[in-house]
Amino acid sequence: MVDLGTGDGRFVYQSARANPNRFYIGIDANADPLRKLSEKAFRRPERGGTPNLMFVQAAAEALPAELDGLADEVHVHFPWGSLLRGVALPDPAMLAGIRRICAPDGVLEVIVGIDPARDQREFDRLGLPALTADTLAARVRPVYDSAGFRWLGDGLLPRDDWAKLECAWARRLGSGERRAVCYFVVAADDREHPANSPNCS
Ligand SMILES: C[S@@+](CC[C@H](N)C(=O)[O-])C[C@H]1O[C@@H](n2cnc3c(N)ncnc32)[C@H](O)[C@@H]1O
Repeated sequence: MVDLGTGDGRFVYQSARANPNRFYIGIDANADPLRKLSEKAFRRPERGGTPNLMFVQAAAEALPAELDGLADEVHVHFPWGSLLRGVALPDPAMLAGIRRICAPDGVLEVIVGIDPARDQREFDRLGLPALTADTLAARVRPVYDSAGFRWLGDGLLPRDDWAKLECAWARRLGSGERRAVCYFVVAADDREHPANSPNCS
């Protein structure tokens, strides 16, 4: 499982501790917030170590080729800046990179938190539309389709669900009364991916 834009790595760290038989990779362009948990991950298991966890410093625009085809799940939780733009505008080049690291039928889950008053300026700066169901259907889903993903669903996450997410931003945003949190889920679709089409030379 890959957590892209992992922040301080809390979500993958907790997941790796809870599921020792699965391998977890946290990726972020900024390594500084990862220092604490990446040091802890190297300890002995009884002191918080997690041998089934790896952190990678990389931009979502340039994911390492070593990850190609590995991810059975990719999570993007509370993206911001270029990562938010890439997954929500969305940017075909970034989706191609994420699609590349997905295993066959690998699932990508995107969770975006929006406070209309506080976040509008950032949405405007990034050129993002409001992520309503209509916008997702008309503007976002077709780009995921073209990038080789199959749309599985979207909606609003109730506060009780997102506030329980084990990640730093869910905690930080917990007090924002007006914040809406929307999600969408897609799966890597080999049948629809041009690179895998038998007619593609
Ligand atoms: C708001 S934080 C969310 C962190 C974490 N997912 C959470 O839920 O607590 C957004 C993260 O995305 C990372 N990020 C932004 N643009 C990125 C990019 N292009 N590639 C990789 N990481 C990026 C930032 O460094 C930051 O850690």
